[in-house]
Amino acid sequence: MEPILTADHLSVAFTRYGRGLSRIALSALTDLSLTVDAGRVTALVGGSGAGKSLLAHAVFHLLPRNAHTAGTICYDGAPLTPARARALRGREISLIPQGITYLDPMMKVGPQVRRGRRDGMSRARCREILARYGLGSEVEELYPFELSGGMARRVLIACAVMDSPRLIVADEPTPGLDSQTAGRVLAHFQELAEQGTGVLLITHDLELARTVAHKIVVLREGRTVDEVPAALFQTGEGLTHPYSRALWQAMPENGLIVDREVSVL
Ligand SMILES: Nc1ncnc2c1ncn2[C@@H]1O[C@H](COP(=O)(O)OP(=O)(O)O)[C@@H](O)[C@H]1O
Ligand SMILES: [Mg+2]
Repeated sequence: MEPILTADHLSVAFTRYGRGLSRIALSALTDLSLTVDAGRVTALVGGSGAGKSLLAHAVFHLLPRNAHTAGTICYDGAPLTPARARALRGREISLIPQGITYLDPMMKVGPQVRRGRRDGMSRARCREILARYGLGSEVEELYPFELSGGMARRVLIACAVMDSPRLIVADEPTPGLDSQTAGRVLAHFQELAEQGTGVLLITHDLELARTVAHKIVVLREGRTVDEVPAALFQTGEGLTHPYSRALWQAMPENGLIVDREVSVL
């Protein structure tokens, strides 16, 4: 499998002002490396605050100004510079952000998903995608404030898949969706992967990750501690890293041996 996205020794730190004029650097991602293959679903799993959303934002160069990054991100064999990310974002590479506040409040759903295009093909594609997620064409005429949380999330996903991107980073895409809709969304990601897209599925839900993904990357306190085939999380056999083993053991069917640290997941 060809890698479509690689992060190599990626670090992200934030500066905060301490006493007087002193500045404190807070390290949020440390020496993180991971690979997303084309045609595969890779899951990034970690507890709250592990740095999952930061990684997503680092890839798309959407970090706030007080964030300092080091390391390299490559997309399709070449460094993903800020200019290149800007040019590809929303077309070849798509982020489904964790927060639904990323929708443009002033723009109706239809034009937002179609990115302003009005030709017949774009309209048909937009209708098809919304229908796939259980949203009728009347939703195209609504503004974001008129949507429920679950609808807004589906619209965000529709925006991301509109132009059949080659890379999708989905940051916790399913919370707030009923299980049938969540299933449809995940099935669509798998279908896109079968067609060659690289999917990075970010989740705190290991059960979901192992059901959908080929590979699982485990993130803990800003570091990748494991990168293994998802199948290892079915039986637990072959999981060597103690943190991965602890995560696996914390799954309900494995006896739920929850220690304090793992229970935040
Ligand atoms: N803008 C920021 N300034 C300072 N720290 C931040 C900022 N954004 C995120 N962080 C910190 O980085 C860590 C990882 O955050 P995040 O990536 O949102 O976690 P996750 O998505 O895994 O729950 C957290 O400890 C958070 O407080
Ligand atoms: Mg997050």
